Amino acid sequence: MLHARNAERGKQARDRVPGAEEVLVADLSSMEETKALASKANAFGTFDAVIHNAGVYQVPRNAVGAEGLPLLFVVNSLAPYMLTCLMQKPERLIYLSSGMHLQGDPGLDRLPAPAHNRDSRVTYSDTKLHDVILAMAVARKWKGALANAVNPGWVPTKMGGAGAPDNLEKGFETQVWLAVSDDAEARVSGYYFHHKRQARCLPAAHDPAVQDKFLALCEQVTGVHFDESQ
Ligand SMILES: NC(=O)c1ccc[n+]([C@@H]2O[C@H](COP(=O)([O-])OP(=O)(O)OC[C@H]3O[C@@H](n4cnc5c(N)ncnc54)[C@H](OP(=O)(O)O)[C@@H]3O)[C@@H](O)[C@H]2O)c1
Repeated sequence: MLHARNAERGKQARDRVPGAEEVLVADLSSMEETKALASKANAFGTFDAVIHNAGVYQVPRNAVGAEGLPLLFVVNSLAPYMLTCLMQKPERLIYLSSGMHLQGDPGLDRLPAPAHNRDSRVTYSDTKLHDVILAMAVARKWKGALANAVNPGWVPTKMGGAGAPDNLEKGFETQVWLAVSDDAEARVSGYYFHHKRQARCLPAAHDPAVQDKFLALCEQVTGVHFDESQ
């Protein structure tokens, strides 16, 4: 099952992966479309694994999503949060982070409050830290699932640019391995991986208080609740 931002990108994805069962379309800069995406996905039942991969890096200053929230935050942080909450709980969840998360703000002080969301100074690094915090929160709260974060390295994708020094294959092999492998090393939860090895993430991501603050802020902004009892 694939996901693309619009019908045209969906057709391109389908052409590249003809074996895919379906391509679901949703623009993750719209919280409403993200919610609808979760419903569409749930119509196919429970997934074995979900890779939260979509992300944006360089966006125009003050760029916002459909509901007026900062684009970086909506696509990189809130979309994986909402999809995690609203999709039926899969066996494995993989969240794409970045080495840049180390420069993120663990105090979560740059997050937009609902009332003055356009004033947020949230950075790409913040959002990639959010992805690690989310992965660690899910790992702690959903004992029956395996949740991990991945730093793919600086790889030559559209985001990474042609001059990126790391290897493109290495940029995706870890998340695929975590999604499908029966290796004992892949059947773990609550880790941050780089090139199929556990790596050190910002310690704050493991702090239950930081995780709970992040989940509460996301719930405040989206109205979507993370159900621990699932
Ligand atoms: N490349 C790197 O060096 C690097 C390093 C560290 C972390 N990462 C992380 O790795 C993940 C994948 O990045 P990438 O390098 O593959 O970047 P990419 O080539 O730019 O791909 C990003 C993907 O996200 C999709 N996307 C962006 N905004 C969207 C929206 N509003 N709605 C739906 N889909 C949207 C893009 O769709 P379109 O193609 O239609 O735009 C694209 O498929 C990201 O989370 C990124 O933060 C990448």
